Amino acid sequence: MVASEAPLVFNDTACRSDSHDHHTVLDHVTFIVTNPERVKSARMTICRNPVPLNELDVARELARPETKRRFVRSLFDTIEGSYDCFTRWFSLGMDARWKRRLVRLVSERTAPGGRMLDLATGTGDIAAAICSGRPETTVVAIDLSIPMLRRGLRGSQSRYLAAVADMAVLPYPARFFASVTAGYAFRNAPEHSVALAEAFRVLEPGGWLATLDFYLPESIFWRRLFVGYLRGSGRLIGRMLHGAPESYGYISSSLQRWMTAAEFSEALRGTGFEIAVEHRMLHGGIAIHVARRP
Ligand SMILES: C[S@@+](CC[C@H](N)C(=O)[O-])C[C@H]1O[C@@H](n2cnc3c(N)ncnc32)[C@H](O)[C@@H]1O
Repeated sequence: MVASEAPLVFNDTACRSDSHDHHTVLDHVTFIVTNPERVKSARMTICRNPVPLNELDVARELARPETKRRFVRSLFDTIEGSYDCFTRWFSLGMDARWKRRLVRLVSERTAPGGRMLDLATGTGDIAAAICSGRPETTVVAIDLSIPMLRRGLRGSQSRYLAAVADMAVLPYPARFFASVTAGYAFRNAPEHSVALAEAFRVLEPGGWLATLDFYLPESIFWRRLFVGYLRGSGRLIGRMLHGAPESYGYISSSLQRWMTAAEFSEALRGTGFEIAVEHRMLHGGIAIHVARRP
């Protein structure tokens, strides 16, 4: 459990009160809250029903933080069953390698016993990998999508604590974690600058943030090919698996509105972080950043 010095309240009533929501039975998910003000806004976010993707205009949904949050949650609520398999096959197994590298880079920098937070954990690959290498560590894993969290916990032997929370409004006190990890997270945030500031806030001084994500390649030629490939194949698979091209075409839609790996380093510096690692893969289409809160 999370160390007892923290003022933690465990509360699983947030969605049970909404009897129309299909998220009524919350057998495995633990709601971890520390600040009633923050919980209020987290509740407002998570208790709305997901909206069918085909009814949404993606460009309009991604244009504003509130609609982007709703769209992204509906998206991941829809694809939770296929996400792991898709990620493995679509990346030809590379995703598992990138995540192992991320986990190694952050684990070797984090003192034993330090609390770790995995943002937008989804089905918990990163949180589970950290737990298996560090049995003494408390790993908290948050996500907005209850189906994704549950999928990860189903049959999992991992001891990470899953919590429903918005990375833009983290329900934890300042300087609470020794490290924060984020796999494909900030690109999906309602506003990445707000989520980065939250990650900075909850890290203790000297703490580490490690991220893995897609970026726009610097080379315009490769960028067109890379984004075009993600768009074409993503939309095809999305149509085949979910009858909704945007369910996997979303990767390219979000990427087109995103930034290069170098620009993300700048955003980290602008938040106050010092960059220790900027490791680009696939010619800048994927990158791992490791940054320290001074
Ligand atoms: C592409 S998945 C990444 C999952 C996992 N981190 C991985 O590396 O495979 C993105 C996740 O971000 C979550 N997410 C999106 N917006 C969020 C937010 N504002 N707060 C918390 N999680 C969010 C989604 O529900 C989804 O599970």
